[in-house]
Amino acid sequence: MDEIKVFVPATVSNVACGFDIMGFPIEEPGDEMIFRKREEKEVVITHVDCNEEIPLDARKNVAGVVSRAMLEAQELPFGVEIRINKGIRPGSGIGSSGASSAGAAWAVNRLLGDVFGEKELVSFAMLGEQSISGALHADNVAPALLGGFILIPGYDPLELVRLHFPSDLYCTIFHPQVEIRTKDAREILKKEISLRDAVHQWGNVAGLVAGLMQEDYALIARSMEDVVAEPVRSLLIPSFDALKREATAAGALGCSISGSGPALFALSRGRETAEQVRSAMEKVYEDKEIGWKSYVSAIAGEGVKILS
Ligand code: HSE
Repeated sequence: MDEIKVFVPATVSNVACGFDIMGFPIEEPGDEMIFRKREEKEVVITHVDCNEEIPLDARKNVAGVVSRAMLEAQELPFGVEIRINKGIRPGSGIGSSGASSAGAAWAVNRLLGDVFGEKELVSFAMLGEQSISGALHADNVAPALLGGFILIPGYDPLELVRLHFPSDLYCTIFHPQVEIRTKDAREILKKEISLRDAVHQWGNVAGLVAGLMQEDYALIARSMEDVVAEPVRSLLIPSFDALKREATAAGALGCSISGSGPALFALSRGRETAEQVRSAMEKVYEDKEIGWKSYVSAIAGEGVKILS
């Protein structure tokens, strides 16, 4: 195989209480990426189709960082040319850098003949995230690579668990068109939390995992609460409280920040409710000058897909 084109889905990470340890992909939007082998043993990025400034320099681009690391680990058998069509806006909170990193890990592995296993791919993809946010986190790249609801119980060593989830769980995304860089959204977090908040948060994580596995919607709803990151990060999102309030009033089980924001996500039982939640959130922005995008999606069971 000399060339591969892939679709990489956007992802919701943290899922309210699971900071850095939980995430799932949605059906749209996503990035399309083309990877082609080249004889010159270098990674080059020849095209990035995006309104935002994304570096073409392979040492600064997350897909380039991941591809270079993988090829170097295999003693540079060839080089790779990368073309990227960004369907996911950078700084959106739905895993833009995670998608480009995961797409690179997945596609370069195919070009190499599938030499790396799942955990190795996630570890390589995390290098892309680290290069842009300063932190090694897998809660976007792991679900983008593997599909489904992914739990990361530990990083050292890396552990990945596919969680069961109810098939009629739907996700609404509401993305105000302001940019928040993950690096900045991490820097404003408190470095320490109280024992009281820790107990609250790990109770919620345990409750959410149990709720998903037992298909207990009431437990899912009670557990979708974040007392660690949301109180600080929500201040950066215009009308966050109103969006959350309206989403819940329209029937969402819960609503919180997707990843590091500014997008919000809500989970609902059934597509119809998720659509009502979408309309209720859109109404909040009706008279605002800030633009927005919204999506309703099932939790995607599949991660990266081959297009050709
Ligand atoms: N867990 C990460 C964070 C996700 O919240 O900073 C960033 O997309």
